[in-house]
Amino acid sequence: MSLAESWDKYAVGSKPRRAVNATGDTTWLNWTQYADHGPNESVLGPVAGRRVLELGSGSGSNLAHLVTLGAMGLGVDVAPAREAVARERWADLAGLEFRTAEATAFLSETDEAFDVVLSIFGAVWFVDPHTLLPLIRSRMASGGTLAFSHLPAGSQDVKPGGAGLRHNHSPDAWEHLLTSYGFGAVSASLIEPPEGRTVGTMLVRALAR
Ligand SMILES: C[S@@+](CC[C@H](N)C(=O)[O-])C[C@H]1O[C@@H](n2cnc3c(N)ncnc32)[C@H](O)[C@@H]1O
Repeated sequence: MSLAESWDKYAVGSKPRRAVNATGDTTWLNWTQYADHGPNESVLGPVAGRRVLELGSGSGSNLAHLVTLGAMGLGVDVAPAREAVARERWADLAGLEFRTAEATAFLSETDEAFDVVLSIFGAVWFVDPHTLLPLIRSRMASGGTLAFSHLPAGSQDVKPGGAGLRHNHSPDAWEHLLTSYGFGAVSASLIEPPEGRTVGTMLVRALAR
């Protein structure tokens, strides 16, 4: 089975996001695997007027939220089913595009530049960072923000899952990797889980040097 087919299969089992969150918002950004938990889009700094790329954008709900705040968004996902669902769900939102592509292939071929790159349990978790980080950096303006989240090491049995090897790293390892590939001001830490849950979320942020 190809990577796209595996992720299409995973997409079939994914539940659509609720129409409204606990505070009554119709769009929002969630870095964690838990509803109504963790930091919001402020991790990315101001996004209005910025070109934002999401790698592994899924149903597009996180990116759509950034577009409602004035960003111009491009979501790239390897699973064709994701593009179809995201396009249909967000058809009325101007400034938001979706493309079916594997992240490294997209970054190798595009000549576009991005101010902000994010990945929520997305391609940054599934692609070798020695391959992906230099490619991301090559398509970012200096001073741009990269942020991503993933489940901590040892939590493979916890959803969300999907196809392929996961690149879970410690905060120190991410700092070393990001610094080696042209990023600075790295902050990497575990978001504590909500009460009654045991698995937190690794959230990493860095600026392109
Ligand atoms: C666990 S899902 C998370 C989706 C979404 N970011 C969210 O938070 O709901 C992982 C997503 O990354 C996509 N993906 C995995 N590897 C990828 C790659 N190498 N290039 C592009 N997309 C990828 C999958 O198709 C899937 O939609």
